[in-house]
Amino acid sequence: MALELATYLDSLSQTLKKEGYSTEESFLKLPFDEDNLREVMEATKNLNVTDVFVIGIGGSSLGTKAIYEALFSYTNPSTKLHFLDQINVEKIQYLVKDLEKKDPKKTAFITISKSGKTLETRKNYELLKEHLPWKAGFHEILITGKDSEFPINREKATTLTIPQEVGGRFSVFSPVGLVPLALTKIDVVQLLKGAMQATKEISENPEKTIKNVTEVFENYKNGKKIYNIFVFSPKLKTLAFWYQQLLGESLGKENKGFFPAVSEGSKDLHSLQQYFAGGTQNTQHEFLISKDENKYQQTIMKAVQETYKEKQIPFRTHILEETNEEELGKFMQTKMMEVLLLAKLLEVNPFGQPDVEAYKSKTRELLANENL
Ligand code: PA5
Repeated sequence: MALELATYLDSLSQTLKKEGYSTEESFLKLPFDEDNLREVMEATKNLNVTDVFVIGIGGSSLGTKAIYEALFSYTNPSTKLHFLDQINVEKIQYLVKDLEKKDPKKTAFITISKSGKTLETRKNYELLKEHLPWKAGFHEILITGKDSEFPINREKATTLTIPQEVGGRFSVFSPVGLVPLALTKIDVVQLLKGAMQATKEISENPEKTIKNVTEVFENYKNGKKIYNIFVFSPKLKTLAFWYQQLLGESLGKENKGFFPAVSEGSKDLHSLQQYFAGGTQNTQHEFLISKDENKYQQTIMKAVQETYKEKQIPFRTHILEETNEEELGKFMQTKMMEVLLLAKLLEVNPFGQPDVEAYKSKTRELLANENL
């Protein structure tokens, strides 16, 4: 098993050396791609905005939101991101009212959809247009796949392309994540630096990663089919949701995969801990915390871990050295690489999400029947 994973990691290192984006694993190259960064900088350099609407769902927004909320949870950034993922007419009406008071030149709309077909994204864009007197001056950016036919005026919008081989949940280091983040003055160069470091560390010293994923897989085989991401740094909660999507959509196939749960310490110690420690033993945990978290949270987390050790409840821990761009970049690239290895062990294809596509086309069908 370890040998198979080592060989696979070796082949991933070869992917890094290949030209362009030729396989689905090529997303690993994004942090190293200078053209990718140049394009993002070019698209954002003259945009001095205070409000950015990020219209997209799933892999088209979760990574951006995770980084933004980790870094700006307790501050008031000079450029705010407003995320529109699920269809929420009231939220749009509320946001639009607020926008009317603002200078349109200080607002950007970034619509992100690789397929260009996702209903939620199309509808949110349409609703925004419908509710907003579409004054001249708003900046519009579309980030989409090569063949997408997203209904937007391409003459007015700056368009950036997502490499065709890069899947949504693996796209955070493409324009999908970098453009909105760069607009909020988040240091995307440091983010990419962290991702590059993680790639190199795992490729050069694969033993630790192989051991980690093998243990997770062994626990899975022993019936621990729930993978609980136990977040003890509240500002990392959305990062946990990004991670949840990565695990859920990449591994939940062919009647296999974990149920990826997200729990919050301490809150869920007062709702789920009884189940985790005393209920059906079907859960393994990954604790997630940053070193800059307060001592109380750290101590409570340690106490929970002590009780898990005593009860032989399997867990591992991921500690961010600090909550900054570099550490977030490292975390995300590490998890994306781990998920490829887990998919190997589970013998599933980590790319694509056929059952998500099924609900998407069913919704389109139902809406058409209802003339919506
Ligand atoms: O990871 C994925 O590929 C999905 O979560 C997609 O990102 C999500 O369904 C949105 O798709 P699209 O970017 O085509 O609108």
